[in-house]
Amino acid sequence: MRVTAIYPGTFDPMTVGHIDVARRASSMFDDLIVAVAASTNKGPYFSLEERVDMATLILEDLENVTVQSFSGLLMDYARDVPSRVIVRGLRAISDFEYEVQIAGVNRHLAPEVETVFIAAAQEYTFLSSSIVREIARMHGDVSEFVHPVVIDAFARRQQLASNSNNNR
Ligand code: COA
Repeated sequence: MRVTAIYPGTFDPMTVGHIDVARRASSMFDDLIVAVAASTNKGPYFSLEERVDMATLILEDLENVTVQSFSGLLMDYARDVPSRVIVRGLRAISDFEYEVQIAGVNRHLAPEVETVFIAAAQEYTFLSSSIVREIARMHGDVSEFVHPVVIDAFARRQQLASNSNNNR
């Protein structure tokens, strides 16, 4: 039986930490779906379409990985796929409490779905999407933290913002 796992997240934007988790998960399962959450409550910086497009380009070398979007409950999405494995990355002990709580809620909603944790790469435990956005907003160098596709997307966004300021 082929096992399809889901790696969900907002990926606003995808960082090298996420790429590392996706890469390792792809070698553990037959198929991996990187599921980009709409996460409208987080007011994402990049649109859902932009986040899906970036993740697709970034992960294109991984043959068993596809990128999809979803909205609503993750467990409803997992049943639709269908998949019985959710992959989550753990960066630090501080992630653990939150992740165990969410895994518990999800198990309550869909007992047949298991959450599997992958320890994130040690050198990037401090990294998060909002830290990357903050540095990029201040025109800092984020090249160590994200794929060039993301750097281009930030540059396009900043160019648009500066054009619209100049037109005022
Ligand atoms: N490397 C770098 N950064 C990482 C990381 C890693 N390995 N793992 C997590 N992060 C970052 C994320 O980028 C995110 O950063 P940000 O808050 O600065 O944007 C932060 O850590 C939190 O990550 P995470 O908990 O994965 O949040 P998320 O918003 O990316 O994804 C969902 C959360 C989408 C999986 C979750 O909200 C969900 O399942 N939503 C659907 C609704 C639902 O089913 N709810 C019921 C369960 S409560």
